[in-house]
Amino acid sequence: MRRNTFLRAVPVFLFGLLALGCRQGMYNQQKYKPLAESSHYPNGMASRSLPAHTVPRGFLREDAALYKGQGADGKFVTAFPVPVTKELLERGQQRFEIYCSPCHSRQGDGLGMVVRRGFKQPPSYHIDRLRQERHGYFFDVITNGFGEMNGYAAQIPPEDRWAIVSYIRTLQYSQHVNTSELGAEDRRLVEEAAAKPASHPSGSSPKGH
Ligand code: HEC
Repeated sequence: MRRNTFLRAVPVFLFGLLALGCRQGMYNQQKYKPLAESSHYPNGMASRSLPAHTVPRGFLREDAALYKGQGADGKFVTAFPVPVTKELLERGQQRFEIYCSPCHSRQGDGLGMVVRRGFKQPPSYHIDRLRQERHGYFFDVITNGFGEMNGYAAQIPPEDRWAIVSYIRTLQYSQHVNTSELGAEDRRLVEEAAAKPASHPSGSSPKGH
């Protein structure tokens, strides 16, 4: 009985050895590691360079309005290339408060904490020039930066940049709304807030420059 089992195990064991051999052979086969040298190709490199104008999957970005904030004429868009929904605004508020409010402040007046500690003061979003700017302009400033401000293309994906732009527009509207456009409850809240003293610490002007 015991002997029988042993005899049956022998071929299994041998087969196992054989299979292991195969695996090792494939494992150790000749191959090039990325960026290794090669005498096979005239340029001496094992890795082939990408053909010109190669676009990785998912990076075509042909839609200039969505990815550059510009229309076909190269001018900044005045319409949003994404649907403006409550979710977009909420996402925009959250992203704005993470990425922009340290300098621009949560109200957008340009007196964020970093500015109060000595960084250049940005203009308030509530000045006429910026209120009248096109949506695409804000997208461009976030993407490429402006003067002392760095661009945020690496940190903030395009869809989130539009969310932030939509929120900036909301902030601007909030400071210039015609109260007669509001419902009774909202009007009461605005009037109540306006009656309270400004929440800025003394010595800082709430207007920016
Ligand atoms: C580290 C501080 C800092 C952060 C963070 C920052 N900004 Fe700015 N921003 C500035 C400064 C400073 C300027 C003015 C630059 C200048 O005039 O040289 C500016 C200018 C601007 C302007 C006005 C451009 C103009 O035409 O005058 C816009 C719009 C703007 N920022 C949007 C944003 C948005 C949106 C974010 C977040 C994604 C952001 N900024 C994050 C510092 C910052």
